[in-house]
Amino acid sequence: MKYALITGASKGIGKAMAEILAEKKHNLILIARSSDLLAALAQSLKSKYQIETAWLAVDFTETGAAYKIQDWCKENNYSIDILINNAGYGLSGPFENYASKEHTDMMQVNMNVLVELCSLFLPELKTAPKAHILNIASSAAYQAVPGLSLYAASKAFVLSFSRGLQYELRHTNVRVTTICPGGTETDFANRANLNPKARKAGEKLNMSADEVAKMAIDAMFAGKTEKITGFVNQLGAVFVWLLPKKLVEKTAAGIYSQD
Ligand SMILES: NC(=O)c1ccc[n+]([C@@H]2O[C@H](COP(=O)([O-])OP(=O)(O)OC[C@H]3O[C@@H](n4cnc5c(N)ncnc54)[C@H](OP(=O)(O)O)[C@@H]3O)[C@@H](O)[C@H]2O)c1
Repeated sequence: MKYALITGASKGIGKAMAEILAEKKHNLILIARSSDLLAALAQSLKSKYQIETAWLAVDFTETGAAYKIQDWCKENNYSIDILINNAGYGLSGPFENYASKEHTDMMQVNMNVLVELCSLFLPELKTAPKAHILNIASSAAYQAVPGLSLYAASKAFVLSFSRGLQYELRHTNVRVTTICPGGTETDFANRANLNPKARKAGEKLNMSADEVAKMAIDAMFAGKTEKITGFVNQLGAVFVWLLPKKLVEKTAAGIYSQD
């Protein structure tokens, strides 16, 4: 019996992807920190869609988080053919406002655990007839974003790493898909402590978590390498590529750097 393992499944885009996969009758392993939310989601998806569900509360900033997940899967004979690395968050405002540990914790969640899970589960994914890795980056991956500098850099890392991995695995049964959402209505803005200007800028353009999740799952099953969600975000990436970097960065700073 195969499972789809989703990190950051307790809320937002991860929770919405879990619902879509459950509807498609995939068994699910749900990972995040919030045990109450995970337990409730696992129970409701199990009874609504008659699938198998399991959940594990793990804080990715703790040492060995990815190994803990792998060990737990082995102990319970959970075998996966879909790995979705979705857990992530941002920290907005000046870089120097945060302690060094806050920066490295974010890199741990957004980058290190994602890489470790790809590395630890790849041998198993390669034994399935067809398998997928879905990594969630961001439209912030395409440019430097003053006021979200490290977050944007962490997502540029995810995009570059995932594209490289997809090429390496192109002749195998494993497809690697990267999704780059723009502003999405989730808890992201609260956790990142986005300023009112940034929130207001997002109000008109934000997509819903359900919309983004559907695009992500569709792109994954279509075997796409990279997908920017929504026309406006796609247009934004083109402008970022065309315009001088200084202008792009000044515009972003005007939105994200203000207190
Ligand atoms: N919303 C946007 O505008 C937007 C735009 C571009 C990209 N993204 C990306 O989309 C992904 C999903 O974010 P979202 O928008 O759905 O935000 P969200 O609602 O805040 O969800 C973030 C998920 O990550 C989990 N998480 C956070 N810190 C964790 C930790 N230390 N250990 C384990 N799990 C942790 C959270 O679960 P717990 O709190 O229960 O641990 C939650 O399930 C992220 O990678 C984010 O960077 C979001």
